[in-house]
Amino acid sequence: MVFICSLGNELIWNFLSMDQIHAIYNGNFDNLEDIKVSPLSRAYTFSDSVYEVIPFFNNEVIAFNRHIERLQYSCRSMNIDANIDQSSKEILQLISLSKIKDGYVYYQISRGVDPIRSHMYSSKLHAETFGYVTSHKFEEQTLKVALCEDIRWQRCDIKSTSLLGNVLSMNEAKDQACDEVIMYKENKITEGGASNVFFIKNNRIFTPSLSSNILPGITRELLISEAAKHEIKIMEQDCSLDDLVEAESVWLTSSTKGLAPVSEIVNQNLNLDVSHPLFRKCQNIFKDAYFKE
Ligand code: PDD
Repeated sequence: MVFICSLGNELIWNFLSMDQIHAIYNGNFDNLEDIKVSPLSRAYTFSDSVYEVIPFFNNEVIAFNRHIERLQYSCRSMNIDANIDQSSKEILQLISLSKIKDGYVYYQISRGVDPIRSHMYSSKLHAETFGYVTSHKFEEQTLKVALCEDIRWQRCDIKSTSLLGNVLSMNEAKDQACDEVIMYKENKITEGGASNVFFIKNNRIFTPSLSSNILPGITRELLISEAAKHEIKIMEQDCSLDDLVEAESVWLTSSTKGLAPVSEIVNQNLNLDVSHPLFRKCQNIFKDAYFKE
């Protein structure tokens, strides 16, 4: 059996059979295809679950504690009573079991399995956990993106598996041969469909400031602090669509994409420099800190 792993709109065929993929469900390690999940899991009926994507490179987990803290924040924000210490151990065990050098762990915590579907949950539910590890090539991807209205809910700071707004927008963009979207709300840039947004205007770097409309991306945070160590200031502020369309260079960040330059924004006549010296400097600083061969 071939397992298809989809990241962005790119289909990555991992010629791995499912039974080679290490996974864990409710604390039991198993092959992905042998895990049985109840259809009454609230992850299934309500997307009542949160998740993390934790990258590792050269056997080093990148910003592990930050991912765990964000997982904890997501659980707390949703009132999901989870054992985060146990989850941390499981994530590290998945990585070491897999013997994969470069990859990521997907790890999800749902509120649990209902006795019968009900919007109002019982306080007696036990959190349900699921994770798997897979290999991933951290290679530079140049992206074509579409601009779109941000149609998501107002708690995008929670890393919830309820991603229908992202899925709808990203698949509309896919129909225009795009790899990603940049979303805006009331003329303000929020983020990408599965990434945060950075751009250069007048030789200064900008990124939208954090709010409940944006996921506090860990790659975003690492880049801002590494750049500061090299005296490169990244301005975190409200960014309008007008700012973006005057940009000299745009890139998106995520745990799986790293810093991915945008070559084209559809229906915009921009001259984006995918090799802008300031962008390349940021990329090198980030690589030196986290992705050194
Ligand atoms: N997503 N914003 C959204 C909506 C995201 O889904 C992601 C990452 C980011 C970047 O966050 P980070 O730098 O912590 O990965 C921002 C992951 C990779 C995913 O859903 O696959």
